[in-house]
Amino acid sequence: MSDVFADRVVIGSEDRLAEMFGGSLGKDGIKFSAGNPNADLFPTAQIKVALNDAIDKYGSQIFEYQTVSGFTQLRSRLAQWAAKTAKIKAAANNILITQGGQQALDLIGKLLLDAGDKIVVEAPTYVGALSAFDQYDPCYYDVAMDDDGLNLEELETVLQNHSDIKLLYTVPDFHNPTGVTMSLTKRKKLVELAEKYDFFILEDTPYRDLRYKGEKLPAIKSFDKHGHVLFVSSFSKILMPGLRIGWVAADEEVIAHLRTLKTSSDLETSGIMLAALNQYLENSDLDRHISSMLPTYRKRLDVMLDVLDNTMPTDVHYTRPEGGFFIWLTLPKVVNAQTLLREICIPKDKISFVPGKVFYAHRDHENGMRLNFSGVNEAQIKVGITRLAMSIREAIAATEVGAVL
Ligand SMILES: Cc1ncc(COP(=O)(O)O)c(C=O)c1O
Repeated sequence: MSDVFADRVVIGSEDRLAEMFGGSLGKDGIKFSAGNPNADLFPTAQIKVALNDAIDKYGSQIFEYQTVSGFTQLRSRLAQWAAKTAKIKAAANNILITQGGQQALDLIGKLLLDAGDKIVVEAPTYVGALSAFDQYDPCYYDVAMDDDGLNLEELETVLQNHSDIKLLYTVPDFHNPTGVTMSLTKRKKLVELAEKYDFFILEDTPYRDLRYKGEKLPAIKSFDKHGHVLFVSSFSKILMPGLRIGWVAADEEVIAHLRTLKTSSDLETSGIMLAALNQYLENSDLDRHISSMLPTYRKRLDVMLDVLDNTMPTDVHYTRPEGGFFIWLTLPKVVNAQTLLREICIPKDKISFVPGKVFYAHRDHENGMRLNFSGVNEAQIKVGITRLAMSIREAIAATEVGAVL
């Protein structure tokens, strides 16, 4: 049976996304593994009004097929939003609306990557991007993450040693999975490198507006003079993932090709959802909505850092993000995070996290873990992280007496 499937099914058979979750926790379990926004913060009532208003305004037209580009008015709004929040110069023609940011990653992979083409990713990086790119069978080079983002010296060595790198994928703001943010200096330098070595940068920014501390930084795209940067964003984390609306800002030529690829993939994003979002943005103040969510997330982040500070052994290291949804924890090398999850944390502690391996292009790191703080309340964070710290201490002690964990 398996020989009837296309080669890419074999390539993708180790499904990275399916690997993320080690088992079932039961209803009292505490999930640090999800990447979800807090559903209590969704503007459900306002979206309901916007949907009704849009139906009143456009009638059956919004239930028809639309164009692949999506509502021009919405694309103009997105261009203005990009200018205001990320200092990007764009017009409606530079925007393509996609089925979530995930479709944008897939379409960009489809646009640029033939089998064996060279792509640089962060180590670790967003697992969903790897799973999208895997389908095009690229050759991955990974570059380490520092506390201020991608290690650019290591990147330049890769660029010097391997010609024809086509694409670099980065999540510069509150990175998934580490929570790290790329510094201003590195943003500028990265664009210089893209110009010098002639590659595209895919700047993926779904967490960009969820900053709880520190100063907002301009997007990498804002330094782009020659069309090297493809900027991707999404409404999943700032409004609700169920809308399935993301977007790309890029040069018109790139947008035209992406449009063709999107047409053959799904014809268009749901006109009903686009009309509802457009109307929501007309009726409501998106900035105010985002600001109203920040204190809840800030508190959860602070509580998690506080409990980590008070419970973790000194040879466990973790990031201190200023926004987003995730903290990255690095265990001593002798401890395997996946084994810890499967053998202790899920069955005994009733907690889950994502073991770090899936976030590496070559699955060659075993001692990292991603902790989500946006989808768990303060009481769950206190109980869950305390249990995690105890189990990590036990695992470290067990490896000292020769057990394999
Ligand atoms: C870095 C990153 N990019 C893209 C996505 C895709 O999100 P969506 O398709 O919901 O916009 C996610 C979702 O978690 C993400 O974390």
